[in-house]
Amino acid sequence: NIHLIENPPQEHDALIATLPLEPFLERPFSFDQPYRLYKGVWIAEKMLRGTLVMQQCFKSRPTDIFLTSFPKSGTTWLKAMIFSTLTRTNCSLDKHPLLTHNPHQCVPYMELQFATGRRQIIDVIPSPRVMSTHLPYFLLPNSITESSCRIVYVWRDPKDVIVSMWYFVQKILGGPDKMVTFDQFYEFFCQGLNSLGPIWNHILGYWEESKRRPEKILFLKYENILQEPVKYAKQLAHFIGCPYSEMEENQRVVEQIVELCSIKKMKDFDVNKDGNRATSSTDVRVSKEYFFRKGEAGDWKSHMTKEMAERLDTLIKEKFKGSGLQI
Ligand code: A3P
Repeated sequence: NIHLIENPPQEHDALIATLPLEPFLERPFSFDQPYRLYKGVWIAEKMLRGTLVMQQCFKSRPTDIFLTSFPKSGTTWLKAMIFSTLTRTNCSLDKHPLLTHNPHQCVPYMELQFATGRRQIIDVIPSPRVMSTHLPYFLLPNSITESSCRIVYVWRDPKDVIVSMWYFVQKILGGPDKMVTFDQFYEFFCQGLNSLGPIWNHILGYWEESKRRPEKILFLKYENILQEPVKYAKQLAHFIGCPYSEMEENQRVVEQIVELCSIKKMKDFDVNKDGNRATSSTDVRVSKEYFFRKGEAGDWKSHMTKEMAERLDTLIKEKFKGSGLQI
């Protein structure tokens, strides 16, 4: 019975209690729950519990596919793309599960399942499984990094990540007056103080590993996929081991998958309009509709001054220096 909920894990609570807590602020800088600094990464305490258990017990299968990302970088989109690509031969696109299920219901968020005692959900998925995580590369369980399973990583211009995250947190907390101001949010982001921050270490961790093992990690950029979705849909299919056949290409299946997963379409499905929870989270209410906003590149231009944008770009360029990665 996959709905059977174990008690949320407590075995690491003594260690967690020793970790630095986020600085006290009058209003929350992110979800209204404690964040801890674990090995240089800010993680919500609850997710950290799940992460530590996952590191101990998760067993990958060689056919597993992991979607990894920094929050608000295109996770929902890539979940839909990977899931529909992988299932295209057994689910016809006009009756596809994505028409009735939010992408987060189709592809489970691993640390959340472990944090909420629902790890059986992951165990019962038939192979090839698709799962997602927001963990940085160095915190992934060894069973993922040392096996032959594959990882798809998506990253996005950090300026647009800030804006997207700002709106997302606002929706969860119930309005802009319930959280820090945008300018404060930006300042914290530049200091790495945000969920899973700092962002530059997250991106660089996957980038470096993808250079070492391109067969293991497909490193994608949100803005590039927006520009050429068909090209990247094909690359994705090839990487996850189900390339499009010539017949499928002639039948324009790639274009149909891209269309099914487009924000315009997805936003319009009734399932993604409803205010119910997208996932089995505990006290953070994350409705399905929250994951679809504009889905564009460059929305930061309406939210940041030129100086703010330049300062963040300079910071990121500095961090990326010598890596070969360009913002
Ligand atoms: P914006 O807030 O800038 O619109 P994540 O899925 O990692 O939480 O990221 C959410 C961001 O991806 C949001 O960005 C959201 O609108 C965008 N997004 C969601 N679905 C998308 C899709 N099908 N195509 C493009 N962008 C999408």
